[in-house]
Amino acid sequence: MLNPYRPYPVRIRKITTETSDKSLKTFEFEFEVPEDEAAFSFTCGQFAMLSIPGIGEIPIGIASSPTEKPIVKFTVFKTGKVTSHLHNMADGDPMGIRGPFGNGFPIQKMENKNILIIGGGFAFTTLRSTIEMMLQPENRDRFKDIDVVYGARHPGMLLYRDELEAWEKRDDIRMHITVDGTDDPDWAYHTGFVPAVTEKCAPRSEGSTLALVCGPPVMIKFTRPVLKDLGYSEDEIIMSLENRMKCGIGMCGRCNIGRELVCKDGPVFTLGELQKTPGEF
Ligand SMILES: Cc1cc2nc3c(=O)[nH]c(=O)nc-3n(C[C@H](O)[C@H](O)[C@H](O)COP(=O)(O)OP(=O)(O)OC[C@H]3O[C@@H](n4cnc5c(N)ncnc54)[C@H](O)[C@@H]3O)c2cc1C
Ligand code: FES
Repeated sequence: MLNPYRPYPVRIRKITTETSDKSLKTFEFEFEVPEDEAAFSFTCGQFAMLSIPGIGEIPIGIASSPTEKPIVKFTVFKTGKVTSHLHNMADGDPMGIRGPFGNGFPIQKMENKNILIIGGGFAFTTLRSTIEMMLQPENRDRFKDIDVVYGARHPGMLLYRDELEAWEKRDDIRMHITVDGTDDPDWAYHTGFVPAVTEKCAPRSEGSTLALVCGPPVMIKFTRPVLKDLGYSEDEIIMSLENRMKCGIGMCGRCNIGRELVCKDGPVFTLGELQKTPGEF
C-alpha cells in the first residue's frame, strides 16, 4: 500500500444476517480495482480498517480465509455509530478498506502441531478464517489434529451455521459446539460454558498442541487455568486482542498495552508475551 491512510475502494457484494437478533451481519466485499485486490494480501488473524466516508473508520478482523480471495469477508456486531451505519447499508454500496494490518496467527509455528481452536461469541471470526484455511485440501496435511470448542449464548447466536454443520460432518476436524443454555429440545450439541466444555473435550498438550483462544475476557479468564491443567505452556496459548484503535499502523499510540502496540505488534500474542507486560493482562 503506497499511502497507508488511503483506503482501497470496495463495494458490498453480499450481506448475510448471522444471528437471530440481527446484531451480527457478515459483509462480503469486492475490490473496485483488480490491482488493489492483489495488493490486499493477508494472513489469518489480521484485521483491516473499514471506512465509510463521512461516518468513520473501524478495525474489524478478517473473517474470510486467504484461500477465498478475491472475496473478503467481515462479520460485524452492531454496537455504535459506524457499525450501525454499516448494518443499514445494502448490496452494491461503496465504501473503503485499509490494510491488512497486524501480525496474524503464527501459521508456520502451527504446522505439524495439533491445533485447538477455542472461540466464544463473535470473536470467532478470525478463527473461522483459520479453520477454513486449514481445511483446504492443499493445506490440511500441514496441520495435525484439529479440535474446535466454540460457544455462544444460545443457538440463535451461533455464527456461520451452515459451515458449522459441514465441519461437524467431516472426519478430519472435531467440533465441540456449545451454548450457555437453550430450550430447544432438538439441540444436539453441548450445553455449558466454553471453559467447562474445554475441560471435558480438549486434548492435552505437553508440547504437541497450540491453542488459539479468542473470546470475551471472562471466557479467557476461566479458560486459562483449564488449559494450564491440560498441560499447555504460556507459549502454547495464543490470543487475539481487540484494543481501541485509531491509525492501525503504529503511529498514534492509541492501542498500546505496556510497550506493545496492538495494531502493529499484535493483535495476536502468546500468553507468555502478554504476561511480560506488567499489570496490563
Ligand atoms: C483488531 C480488532 C479486531 C476487531 N474485530 C472485530 C470483528 O471482527 N467484528 C466486530 O464486530 N468488531 C470487531 N472489533 C471491534 C470493533 O472495532 C468495534 O466494535 C467498533 O470499532 C465499534 O465502532 P462503532 O463506531 O460502531 O462504535 P462506537 O460508537 O465507537 O462505540 C460504541 C460502543 O462500542 C464500544 N467499542 C468501540 N470500539 C471498541 C473496541 N475496539 N473494542 C470493544 N468495544 C469497543 C464503545 O466503548 C461503545 O460502548 C475489533 C476491534 C479490533 C481492535
Ligand atoms: S492504532 Fe495507532 S498506534 Fe495502534
